[in-house]
Amino acid sequence: MTPDLDQHLADAATAIAAAADLDALRIVDAELLGKQSVVTTARKALGAMDVEERKVAGRLLNEVRAGIQEQLEARRTELESAARSEQLESERLDLTELDRGRRLGHRHVVTRTWERLEDLFVGMGYTVSEGPEIEDEWHNFGALNFPPDHPARDMYDTLYVDHGEPGSTLLRTHTSPVQIRVMEAGGPPIYSIMPGRVFRSDTADSTHMPVFHQLEGLVVDRGITFGDLAGTLEAFTRAYFGGDFTSRLRPSYFPFTEPSAEFDIRRPDGTWLELGGCGMVHPNVLEACGLDPEEWSGFAFGFGLDRLALMRHGIDDLRELFRNDQRFLEQF
Ligand code: PHE
Repeated sequence: MTPDLDQHLADAATAIAAAADLDALRIVDAELLGKQSVVTTARKALGAMDVEERKVAGRLLNEVRAGIQEQLEARRTELESAARSEQLESERLDLTELDRGRRLGHRHVVTRTWERLEDLFVGMGYTVSEGPEIEDEWHNFGALNFPPDHPARDMYDTLYVDHGEPGSTLLRTHTSPVQIRVMEAGGPPIYSIMPGRVFRSDTADSTHMPVFHQLEGLVVDRGITFGDLAGTLEAFTRAYFGGDFTSRLRPSYFPFTEPSAEFDIRRPDGTWLELGGCGMVHPNVLEACGLDPEEWSGFAFGFGLDRLALMRHGIDDLRELFRNDQRFLEQF
């Protein structure tokens, strides 16, 4: 009986090691220790033995049984821990992976144009100033040398706000009133840009919107000349658009600058694009802000920011910038 049991123990060890998972191990367990098993069958045979024989065989059987149980237990522990780590792995949630799949939005193309322009002028030593979108008549027109009832006011299709005296409160038609506010707030030297939203009662079409954005520039210092204005706009043109762009000034009229000019840029293909207005700050404007025109001089410019965004990205309809169609906005 002994060699048989030794052999059985060895076979059992092989079968236990071969059990690939807990289900397989349960079957092996039943085969080795269940009702039909060698051990159980041998135990039943003990009853037919005499006392001494039974003692020896019984002890031996117990050892074999314990040996098998021990091996089953060890294998079970091994398989259980493997199953646990497999489950952990399959249920693992990697939140960074989820995040990677999600599409984040980005800033609007006009906002990014605005920020690029700010960066560029800040790099040239300018500060950034802001003013209110709802203005009074004085800042939007009066202080900018528009005489009352002057036809130049008709250049701007003004949207008036029902507040105070009729005609006294309006949605600013340009960013030039911020020039006045900057000069009122502190004396020269002033090197500042004033980006912002402006309003005119225009009908929306591919090149006009009742709401759009401008960027104003104001420099006031001693000995500022028209040459400084032209040089600044040329430096800006090359820095913003690239070295193959250039600028020109054409005579024009604004009540708040004298002389005044239109500011155009030339694209590499030789075509010109009108960008905005500019000129030397009118002495009346300096005086309205308490500055002595004999001591100080300056230049100002203002141009449409949306148009820059259109040009830069090859967009052909201004209205697209304000429609908030995600399919459009995602492209930029
Ligand atoms: N404010 C003018 C406009 O909106 C532009 C401008 C700004 C012209 C500064 C001259 C100087 O048309």
